Amino acid sequence: MPPGKITAATVRADFNDLLAVVHYTRAAHELGLWASERLLIERHFTDRTAPLLEAGCGAGRVTLGLWQLGYRELVAFDFAEELVDQARSLAAERLPENTPPDPASDISPIRPIRPMGPIGPIGPIDSPPAPLTFLHADATALLSPQSNLLGYFAASRPRGCTDPRGYFGGALFPFNGLMQIPGRAHRREALRGLAEVCAPGAPLLFTTHDRDASPTERALWRLETIRWTRGEQDPRLVEFGDRYFEDEAGRTFMHLPDRREILEDLAATGWTHTFDALRPEIAKESRAVRDFSDECRFWIATKENRESGKSKKRKT
Ligand SMILES: C[S@@+](CC[C@H](N)C(=O)[O-])C[C@H]1O[C@@H](n2cnc3c(N)ncnc32)[C@H](O)[C@@H]1O
Repeated sequence: MPPGKITAATVRADFNDLLAVVHYTRAAHELGLWASERLLIERHFTDRTAPLLEAGCGAGRVTLGLWQLGYRELVAFDFAEELVDQARSLAAERLPENTPPDPASDISPIRPIRPMGPIGPIGPIDSPPAPLTFLHADATALLSPQSNLLGYFAASRPRGCTDPRGYFGGALFPFNGLMQIPGRAHRREALRGLAEVCAPGAPLLFTTHDRDASPTERALWRLETIRWTRGEQDPRLVEFGDRYFEDEAGRTFMHLPDRREILEDLAATGWTHTFDALRPEIAKESRAVRDFSDECRFWIATKENRESGKSKKRKT
């Protein structure tokens, strides 16, 4: 019997697996932000008071890094509950002032995922926003009726808002998390959801691999093209560009796009491309960072201002 296709459930189970949990938890505790992440965050996320949304936060490596850089309203989420648990423990250990005294502050559960809630306090209307909130949520269903992001806004009303649409001043989906969503339509769902919850002009940072990054990559992908033409590719893969492999971090699904694919996806989902570059062109990384992560391409996009687009059209 041929194995089934990789789905979101496969990916989530892989990230909840002990090997992956240990790998990403260690990175959150020991590695922190990469030099390239730090540089681009500081360059593009210039307002430290703006609320930021981080998708695929894992065990909190980037979230805690953002906190250390001085961002003070962070909502971070992941669909792997074991990693969200780790992120909360790390935040409780390093930032005890933001740990709620009672875990009963959890909000409405999403099913079938185990219920998770924010780490920050849920206060009455008009209370200051929770400074650091970890949610259990799926990037491809950010605004579904069961979404914990909606639940969090309904329950805690940050800055008096009961709805996250247009709320965030920036979003991040660091370290290739977006590319770990199987199926281009689903990746676009995630991009669309992030655009919906961001204010016009808000920056988005994410990374991908790049099929055209080097002559070796190009040669490998030419061979993969032949396999797909003959129908000899790994039958579990969803689309050309997918890989499913196993290493010290456990089993990993990854879609490797080319540059054009990402430019099209951004344009189709409410984002304007502003910048992209391969990591070595941005900053020199430590040996520890290079051991933890392959080279990648960084992307910065800006949430389209549809209103100003419309008004420009009316004037001409
Ligand atoms: C490579 S890990 C990066 C984790 C963390 N950001 C870091 O840099 O250490 C990618 C993360 O994206 C999460 N992820 C993938 N698909 C997701 C989805 N649809 N919704 C929420 N999280 C997702 C995974 O669970 C995983 O924690």
